[in-house]
Amino acid sequence: PYVTYISATGSETAVAGFAGDSVMETAVRNGVPGIVAECGGSLSCATCHVFVCADSVFDPMQELEDDMLDGTAIDREANSRLSCQLKLSDADIRVTTPETQV
Ligand code: FES
Repeated sequence: PYVTYISATGSETAVAGFAGDSVMETAVRNGVPGIVAECGGSLSCATCHVFVCADSVFDPMQELEDDMLDGTAIDREANSRLSCQLKLSDADIRVTTPETQV
């Protein structure tokens, strides 16, 4: 699937991902800016915060992700997720990265 990362200023980076990988891993592997992922995906940093675009669907969040989203650098929104918890399927997806993660 293709993963499109849209920066806070509107520039788009589209990369090919693999089903089963996370949106965070895919960004880090491709050097996409906007996702820091300090903890490497262990759900303890909240620096992989993204806003999921309306046309993109993921599994619902678990309680720990929900708790961690209360500690993001920029306020959470209704479409906020932690990208290390977003597994790719075969569908193309789009996320926006916050201006606080550059
Ligand atoms: Fe740290 Fe997602 S990479 S919470």
